[in-house]
Amino acid sequence: MLHPGCHQGPNRTALNRYPEIFAAAAAAAPSARRILSFGCSTGEECITLADYFPEAQIIGADINPVVLLRAMKHRSNRIRFVYASDGILGRYGGFDAVFCMAVLRSTGHYPFDSFEERALFLETLVRPGGLLVIHNSRYRFGDTARRCSYEVIPVTAPRSSVLLPDGVTTAEPDGSIFRKLES
Ligand SMILES: C[S@@+](CC[C@H](N)C(=O)[O-])C[C@H]1O[C@@H](n2cnc3c(N)ncnc32)[C@H](O)[C@@H]1O
Repeated sequence: MLHPGCHQGPNRTALNRYPEIFAAAAAAAPSARRILSFGCSTGEECITLADYFPEAQIIGADINPVVLLRAMKHRSNRIRFVYASDGILGRYGGFDAVFCMAVLRSTGHYPFDSFEERALFLETLVRPGGLLVIHNSRYRFGDTARRCSYEVIPVTAPRSSVLLPDGVTTAEPDGSIFRKLES
């Protein structure tokens, strides 16, 4: 059963699941200190981010308390986990990078408004100059109202175009990493 507010029930994850994107983000923000993994599932993404960003504290957040409990075994002096409520995340805001990978993509009825509401909340958590990384979603951050407040950071990927999860829409693989403009 989906939790209220859940955008993606399945919690499949893995270590280093998106190497090209993590590498490009690390190159764009090598001295990032505070990173959020939104929809961290059982925590492997947080371990991966700790490797790519050696100076950063990583916060993993998920809406599913069962996977959060499993993630807790990866807690360390650099990685911690919190429940993904807006109130809790808002208190941690001002991140150098926010990652939202394979979260905003429910396979059922999933209007653009649902995606945009979460994407626009997440972008409020990014400090000016910080990165917003949204990948493996049903829709594109580049189609939201806040797109013009960001620049795209290129990603070197093996293919020149990929299909979004609807299996129809073509997207550029380097449309995942956005840097918030300073003003
Ligand atoms: C497929 S997993 C993705 C895990 C990891 N980010 C990755 O890409 O490997 C999707 C996760 O997003 C979580 N999720 C779904 N809706 C969420 C929401 N509104 N807030 C936080 N987490 C959410 C689910 O509980 C699940 O653990």
